[in-house]
Amino acid sequence: MLIDSHCHLNFLDSPNIALAAARMGGVGGFLCVGVDKDGIDDVCALAQDNMDVWASIGQHPNTTEKDLSWISERIAKFESSSKVIALGEMGLDYSQCSDDREEQLRQISCFEYQLALAENLKYPVIIHTRDAEEDTASILENFSSVRGVMHCFTESWALAEKALNLGYYISMSGIVTFKNAGLVREVASRVPKDRLLVETDSPWLAPVPYRGKLNQPLFVTETAKFLANYLDWEMSDFELKTEQNFFRLFTKAKAIP
Ligand code: NI
Repeated sequence: MLIDSHCHLNFLDSPNIALAAARMGGVGGFLCVGVDKDGIDDVCALAQDNMDVWASIGQHPNTTEKDLSWISERIAKFESSSKVIALGEMGLDYSQCSDDREEQLRQISCFEYQLALAENLKYPVIIHTRDAEEDTASILENFSSVRGVMHCFTESWALAEKALNLGYYISMSGIVTFKNAGLVREVASRVPKDRLLVETDSPWLAPVPYRGKLNQPLFVTETAKFLANYLDWEMSDFELKTEQNFFRLFTKAKAIP
C-alpha cells in the first residue's frame, strides 16, 4: 500500500474530500505534519478522526514562535491516542537568510530543542533542510541516537549519505518528477531501497503532470509511479517496500487492520 509520508492536510480546503480521493486512488496512509502552534490542534484532530491518518508535532524552521513549550504540552495531551508518531517538521532553512547568522542561530536553537525532546521521549523526527548542509549534518551528528526522515529531500548526495549513515531515511516529493531536478533523481537512485519514503508535502509541490496546481495526497501515486519507473522497480514492490520502511521508522504507527 502506498503511504503519503508527509502532507499538510490541515492546509487543504477540504481535507475530507482530499482524503476520500486519495483512498479511492489506492493511497492507504497519511502522515499529517505539523509546522506551528496555531495549526497543531487541526493536525491532531485529523489523526484522531481518521484511522489512516497519523500526526507529527513540531515547529518548522520558518516559524518564529519563541516559546516552544506547546510542543511537549501537545505530545502529553495526545500520547495516549497513539496517533502522534513523530516530532517535526523541524530543521534549518537558510534559503531566505544566507547572510543572517542571527536568524540562523534562532533556527538552530529551535531545532536543537526539538531534537533533545525527541531524544528524551524516543520519537523519530521529520527534518526539513534547505541550504544549510554543514549545520544540519553537525547537529544531527550531535544527536546520534535520534532517527528520522530527511523530508522532501533536495540537497546534495553528501548530506544524504551522512544522514543515511546516522540511520535516517530519505523522502522524495513531487520535485523528483520536475524536469530540472536531475540532482534529486541522482540522490534517489543512490538511496538504499530499504531507506526510501515518498510524500506529497501537499498542498505544495504537485508532481508532474499537475505541476503548478494545488497538490493533494492522491498525487503521491504520480510521484511513486515516476520513481518506480525511474528506478526500474516493480510498482507492487515499490509500494510494499516503502510501506515497510514507513512502519520500521515510525514504530508508534500501528498498521491499519
Ligand atoms: Ni512539509
